[in-house]
Amino acid sequence: MENNSRRGFMGKAFGAVAAVGAVGSLVAMKKTWDPLPSVKAAGFTTLDMTTYQEGVMVTEKWRGKPIFVLKKSAEVMENEKGNPEAEARNIKIGNDNFMVAIGLCTHLGCIPAFRPDENDFLCACHGGMFDASGLVKKVPPPRGFDIPPFKIDGTNLILGEVGPEWQSMKDNGVTL
Ligand code: FES
Repeated sequence: MENNSRRGFMGKAFGAVAAVGAVGSLVAMKKTWDPLPSVKAAGFTTLDMTTYQEGVMVTEKWRGKPIFVLKKSAEVMENEKGNPEAEARNIKIGNDNFMVAIGLCTHLGCIPAFRPDENDFLCACHGGMFDASGLVKKVPPPRGFDIPPFKIDGTNLILGEVGPEWQSMKDNGVTL
């Protein structure tokens, strides 16, 4: 009888330890699922727009994607005048105008090369071309470069945050 109650006690004690162990494992798993703070912060990229030079295309990186940043020259702005599609894609920060876009061809995802002399982008994969505002100049790309979500904060551009300028581009079908 004494033996039986002892076994019962041992069984309960083992069960309790096992339960605590299971909770401990769940906590450990939950920790593994949650993104690290550094990964969360990596969702946003802040660009200081005062650092770019006119006509020099710079490739930045956001969420593993290439981001083309082109500070437009007066000549490019003159060419875009009267072209509502190009004007709708323009990002104005202070007195400067920019093209900021995901640097992947909308045909099959190759990375087009910027041609400073032509002020355009050539995709070597199938000969697609994009102009300095990111619009298709030559098919097969089905649409212009996609514009990543952005928010203008003074002279900074925060990629990954949705600001009113980007929201209105999206609402008007300028980008996906
Ligand atoms: S992937 Fe660019 S033209 Fe086909």
